[in-house]
Amino acid sequence: MKILVIGELNVDLILQNYQAFPELGKEVLVEDSTLTLGSSSAICAVGLARLGEQVSFLGKMGCDVWGDFCCRRLREEGIDITRVIADPSVKTGITTSITGATDRALVTHLGAISELRASDIQAEALRGFDHLHMACYFMQTGLRPGFRSIFQQAKAAGMTRSFDPGFDPDEKWGPELRETLGSVDVFFPNEVELRGISGKNDLEEGLASLQNGHTLVVAKLGRGGAMALSQGRLVRVPAPLVEPVDTTGAGDSFNAGFLHCWLAGQSVEAAMRYGAACGAISTQALGGTGCQPDEAGVEAFLQKREMAAEASK
Ligand SMILES: Nc1ncnc2c1ncn2[C@@H]1O[C@H](COP(=O)(O)OP(=O)(O)OP(=O)(O)O)[C@@H](O)[C@H]1O
Ligand SMILES: [Mg+2]
Repeated sequence: MKILVIGELNVDLILQNYQAFPELGKEVLVEDSTLTLGSSSAICAVGLARLGEQVSFLGKMGCDVWGDFCCRRLREEGIDITRVIADPSVKTGITTSITGATDRALVTHLGAISELRASDIQAEALRGFDHLHMACYFMQTGLRPGFRSIFQQAKAAGMTRSFDPGFDPDEKWGPELRETLGSVDVFFPNEVELRGISGKNDLEEGLASLQNGHTLVVAKLGRGGAMALSQGRLVRVPAPLVEPVDTTGAGDSFNAGFLHCWLAGQSVEAAMRYGAACGAISTQALGGTGCQPDEAGVEAFLQKREMAAEASK
């Protein structure tokens, strides 16, 4: 399948294992530091490419080392970056993650993330693709008003469409997002996002309230697996039991795995199981793309689990 991902680009700078949490006016040391490709959209793009999909990325970056790093990483994964816009007037986004044994603090400079606009995306850019994936609705303040029209253009061009909203730092969630859903085939909120967007605390009620007769809503529940309402039927899939190293990007890896199966015509439940495997595998290394599997990797993971289940009978 030819897949276009339109979205944000940023690096993640991970400062690992602080001696003490930073305080104003003081300096603290960390044990290690790692620079990785960040951003929900790019992590999903890499997940899809690892699974053998043909992926193109459209986004905006500055003309700086962070932008060069993002492009190099995408290229290394075989992703077409000819639609990435390098704008010298902005800086590439960066998230710094200061991590300890049990928690982390994130500090983000949005930079180019909020500067991509619908006017940057020519109609020709959407030609020749089977599917469009977009994510990170709330952080992309420049693109946000254009999400709906871009999905509609993709629909008119005969593409299927998927959408991961991501977290709203203002936690306002806004009614406009729901209007966008009408042009989307698969919607991928996590449980916090589903509650915020639907205004329902109960997840089943939340899924039901977003039903519009067209959009399949697949809710990602971390260790709780995933849940969807498909043609009036509640589908639940458990998360494989793993000891996570870093859960960054598990949701984006889930999206990639789900789409890989769903685009191939597999059932919603089968796609959710594959997505859950991709999400769980991705937690086994640092960063969003550190451990995303190829098809053989998912196969081996599922087989090992089946064998373990047989042995414990
Ligand atoms: N600790 C975990 N153990 C096993 N599987 C997990 C774990 N965390 C996530 N997963 C798998 O990955 C899927 C997606 O993760 P999650 O629900 O955290 O998405 P998310 O909040 O959108 O993540 P992010 O936005 O950080 O990428 C889950 O549905 C689950 O199948
Ligand atoms: Mg997410």
